[in-house]
Amino acid sequence: MALILFLVLSLCITCCRVDARSKTLIDEQNQFTLSKSIMHSMDNNFDCVDIYKQPALQHPLLKNHKIQLFPTFAKNVVRSRSSYGKTTDDCPLGKVPIYNRTRSHQTITNSSSKLHIDDFRRYSQSSQRYHTVTLDTTQNMKIYGAYTGIVGYELSVQAQQYSLSAIWVESGSSSELNSIKVGAGVFPTLYGDNQLRITGQWTADGYNQTGCFNSNCPGFVQVNRDKEYALGSVISPPNSIGATQKLFAIFLIIQDRHSGHWWLYVENESKFVGYWPKDLFTHLKEGASLIRFGGQTYSPPNKNIPPMGSGRFPKEKFTNSSFMARLKIIDSQRNEIDVKPEDMKPYRDTSTNCYDLEYHGYEGPLYRQAFLYGGPGGPNCSK
Ligand SMILES: *[C@@H]1O[C@H](CO)[C@@H](O)[C@H](O)[C@H]1NC(C)=O
Ligand SMILES: *[C@@H]1O[C@H](CO)[C@@H](O)[C@H](O)[C@H]1NC(C)=O
Ligand SMILES: *[C@@H]1O[C@H](CO)[C@@H](O)[C@H](O)[C@H]1NC(C)=O
Ligand SMILES: *[C@@H]1O[C@H](CO)[C@@H](O)[C@H](O)[C@H]1NC(C)=O
Ligand SMILES: *[C@@H]1O[C@H](CO)[C@@H](O)[C@H](O)[C@H]1NC(C)=O
Repeated sequence: MALILFLVLSLCITCCRVDARSKTLIDEQNQFTLSKSIMHSMDNNFDCVDIYKQPALQHPLLKNHKIQLFPTFAKNVVRSRSSYGKTTDDCPLGKVPIYNRTRSHQTITNSSSKLHIDDFRRYSQSSQRYHTVTLDTTQNMKIYGAYTGIVGYELSVQAQQYSLSAIWVESGSSSELNSIKVGAGVFPTLYGDNQLRITGQWTADGYNQTGCFNSNCPGFVQVNRDKEYALGSVISPPNSIGATQKLFAIFLIIQDRHSGHWWLYVENESKFVGYWPKDLFTHLKEGASLIRFGGQTYSPPNKNIPPMGSGRFPKEKFTNSSFMARLKIIDSQRNEIDVKPEDMKPYRDTSTNCYDLEYHGYEGPLYRQAFLYGGPGGPNCSK
């Protein structure tokens, strides 16, 4: 399903050529305009499930959970019923879309390539299988949310692998780690295809006994009826390498100050998808201590490491490399603020021949705080 994305003109960092087509898209004042994508791919892999019978509510900690239909919140977030407007991709009233992995695999792949979710849990302790490049907060304070625009690309990723560009929201020591990770992912074994999709993951104990991707285990509460705004929805169209215009997929995750649930927004601050209930967590009940922005790939042993971002290195700049822009956090005063370069530090667990990250702080009024990340992966990913 098509997301509505910010269509922007990339900054003239490496060149000052503005072609005729881009000119028509520039708003003289704002320098960017909204553009609704008209590409609707057929995606019949969602079931419309009674909102009060959705998988999340089978979680033992959610037995008496009262579903929050709207976020309560924050001063600069508009409460809106727009996501309840009837469109062709909406589930009927009272129902919400839940991605059905069984169906996607019946139609697209065969059973022997099915994902063993448990593998990801077991193997997540084995860092050799993961490659991560992020920009992390360093301040010792409560953080109540994070915002970024992700410039997503379609990538060639093999079965049992994934490549994700995401926001991490974390708290707790490694064995007690509470983590929500959400962003744009290519994950053939989960989805049965190579499309870029809204992908989320959570754990409350460092991936030991709790958590999973999307709605594969009880946890995430889907509230939006629209199949374009669910975990598993396709983010389209993807960006192309070399193009001067880039599409941002907007992700905002924010803790509701009244309910304590962690709400996911995509596209903009009036499009909410659903939430991870605070009941799932120990440490994340009371804000986060760490926000990370960046990419992560997973690969079983004896397979080439998949590409991250656009598959190009940051040195190829905004035209070719993937990047995240307009980085913001919700600070301890619950203000939405741009991240500050002095409060951020890059993290990389692999060699620069595999993936890299470049952060120079403010990149102009359009991208604001932005960084480049990613690379081709492949055989050069020594730890
Ligand atoms: C998922 O799809 C399969 C195959 O079409 C179907 O048998 C199953 O009932 C669906 N699951 C849900 C929860 O609707
Ligand atoms: C089924 O999956 C296996 C393992 O991924 C693969 O080797 C095989 O070619 C697939 N068969 C078909 C018919 O797609
Ligand atoms: C994972 O959970 C099991 C069962 O609760 C526990 O025995 C084990 O120590 C945990 N492992 C880690 C790495 O925390
Ligand atoms: C969010 O996007 C929708 C659809 O493009 C638009 O109607 C709405 O005004 C936007 N809201 C904000 C706060 O930008
Ligand atoms: C971007 O990619 C194109 C095509 O692969 C290449 O010709 C160009 O030199 C690259 N630009 C940069 C800045 O590396």
